[in-house]
Amino acid sequence: MGNEAYIIKGHLCYSRDADTIEVVENGSLVVENGVCRGVFETVPARYAQLPVHDYGDRLVVPGMTDLHVHAPQFSFRGLGMDLELLEWLNTYTFPEESKYRELSYAERAYGSFADHLLHSTTTRACIFATIHVPATLLLMRKLDALGLCTYVGKVNMNRNSPDYLRETSTRQAIRDTELWLSQLEGLRHTRPILTPRFIPSCTDDLMYALHDLREQYSLPVQSHLSENLGEIAWVRELCPRAKFYGQAYDQFGLFGGDHKCIMAHCVHSDEREQELMLKNGVFIAHSPESNMNLASGVAPVNQFLERGLHVGLATDVAGGSHESMLRAMMHAIQASKLRWRLLDQTVAPLSFERAFYLATMGGGAFFGSVGTFREGWAADAVVLDDANLDHPQDLSVRARLERMTYLADERSIAAKYVEGRKIL
Ligand code: GUN
Ligand code: FE
Repeated sequence: MGNEAYIIKGHLCYSRDADTIEVVENGSLVVENGVCRGVFETVPARYAQLPVHDYGDRLVVPGMTDLHVHAPQFSFRGLGMDLELLEWLNTYTFPEESKYRELSYAERAYGSFADHLLHSTTTRACIFATIHVPATLLLMRKLDALGLCTYVGKVNMNRNSPDYLRETSTRQAIRDTELWLSQLEGLRHTRPILTPRFIPSCTDDLMYALHDLREQYSLPVQSHLSENLGEIAWVRELCPRAKFYGQAYDQFGLFGGDHKCIMAHCVHSDEREQELMLKNGVFIAHSPESNMNLASGVAPVNQFLERGLHVGLATDVAGGSHESMLRAMMHAIQASKLRWRLLDQTVAPLSFERAFYLATMGGGAFFGSVGTFREGWAADAVVLDDANLDHPQDLSVRARLERMTYLADERSIAAKYVEGRKIL
């Protein structure tokens, strides 16, 4: 954590709650020891001597959390969008992920991923790697060196996967996972997360063994849930004891409750599954672009919020084509409108306020007090510059923020702070 105290000055925009964005024009955010100390229109005398990082007419927003993204899939982003999930995995994803057995390939590909993440609005992310231990460690070291706060998982998969991308037994999978966990010393901002790919890729005894590891090492868990109808039908065959997909994870002790847990997608989660996620505090990683590209469907994200479920936003690259969380906000809003118009008028479209909340506070909550500029919360901030997005009329700061969500690209990211550390 940065030890020093300073002020970030600009037009501050941050969520108070899911439905309210506070805008403080020419505001001063006081940062001390990596934590927000307050937002002020006029800096109090006690802070008057602090150095000021003055961003003038630019917008300053909380750093965003990408709650689910596949680092090894970044290399084929924007490709292979013609198939549904299970065929997409076999045709495009598994062949690409197998390349990470070569460290030289991982070096190039993960270097590119990390560089793009650095130049995005993302300050925190929960990331899938591959089954390969050396490449996963390389990814973790790269992200750590950039100062981003991440959870990274070595993927586990020991069935229904090709020979060239499969752990050969439960014993080997657990041995590799412990080998990975034994080599994390020195990492400051990058933490491990247990990552069974999804139920179809993991035998029952591997899932039980991962549960034991989770307890032994006090690890969080991330996986995929109820993304695609074919996948759900397959899980019903594979786990006849479970009444629904989420209950299968729960029977293995990998569905929250006494540990932190993220489930990506939840497009087709029924009432029982949502109830159990609520009870167990499971985080949903809503991945709207991926769900459109793989024709999975549209999750009822407003229903999740109204029920009090933990929800964040995710790019799910390479189901999603882009690392931008601003784009993920746009896609979440657009998808929710089509869902409302075409499928279900009982779940209202997502407002801009709620999309912003999901990208900042919603996913940030997985990391603790993260995602807004409240006193005592982590000083994660991104400076957005819209000087090149010309317009003839006067625009409010709120309007500029909304417009940037649709129009901004990496050139608009002027600076970035994580836990008070300026990393860009
Ligand atoms: N389910 C299992 N693996 C994957 C993956 O790599 N991407 C997506 N979108 N869903 C999955
Ligand atoms: Fe995914």
